[in-house]
Amino acid sequence: MRILNASGCLDALAAPEVARQLDAFVTKTVTPLPREGNAPPRIAETAHGMLNAIGLANPGRERFLAEHLPRLRELGVPLWVSVGGFCAADYAETCSGLANIEAVELNLSCPNVDEAADSAAEIVAACRRATELPLYAKLSAAHPDVAEVARAVAAAGADGLSLINTLRAVALDKHLRPALARGSGGLSGLALKPIALHAVSVCHEATGLPIVGMGGIESGRDALEFAACGARDVALGTVLFSDPGAPARVRAELAAACAEAGVATPDDVRSLAKSPETERKVPA
Ligand SMILES: Cc1cc2nc3c(=O)[nH]c(=O)nc-3n(C[C@H](O)[C@H](O)[C@H](O)COP(=O)(O)O)c2cc1C
Repeated sequence: MRILNASGCLDALAAPEVARQLDAFVTKTVTPLPREGNAPPRIAETAHGMLNAIGLANPGRERFLAEHLPRLRELGVPLWVSVGGFCAADYAETCSGLANIEAVELNLSCPNVDEAADSAAEIVAACRRATELPLYAKLSAAHPDVAEVARAVAAAGADGLSLINTLRAVALDKHLRPALARGSGGLSGLALKPIALHAVSVCHEATGLPIVGMGGIESGRDALEFAACGARDVALGTVLFSDPGAPARVRAELAAACAEAGVATPDDVRSLAKSPETERKVPA
């Protein structure tokens, strides 16, 4: 099981020592044009997670390729580039400019991008034509049937899935007004874990594709639970803000959690993964 960061949760150039603990570094989502992001406040705490409305702030495709990517290469860590956009052509053009990286993660939960199965499949199909790099489709669990979206992107040529993105939510300040300037934002952290485990289970069952599981992972035990639901790899997001040493710690804890579960590696529990829906259909 590889340990990655979740897109947008680590600035590898500002914290190279954190990035070097990872098996691969995933960039913040890159869009065709530069984006300033939303006005502050863009981050708020909630009881069981964090709310953000960063708004995909990024330098844009051209500056990313010319300035950021060469500096990221110097880290010596395998790179995944997270690609975003507003239509299939946006995604495909960025993909066609990428080379010598380990994989592309398609952020299919961008603002203004319709998360329906056919729109997601259209984006993946356009990117498939644009690159031979491995394509991981990153889905949110906001869709009523995430497994249907997973099947559609698999049929369109995705090589893997990244699950899950944040979920839209609101937090109020002491004056009962939204804590974020934008009103709502994306909820991440602990509250996402049970939702993410379900999404990983049903998408693993639906597609059998390799899955990077994420959503509230804080410990090695959490990572092993994602493996037990079908994830091959995991990504750490919100935990990195409070514990920059999390990748090394989670890796050590994962070995201990395997020993406690009586298995040699997380792959051994993945092979037992069954979705809760399937289990329910099995007669007692
Ligand atoms: C501050 C912040 C910025 C994020 N930016 C991105 C992004 O640019 N692209 C993306 O696909 N996901 C982004 N995410 C979502 C994370 O990659 C991840 O899917 C989500 O936070 C769930 O994992 P976690 O609970 O471990 O944080 C962001 C999350 C946070 C908290």
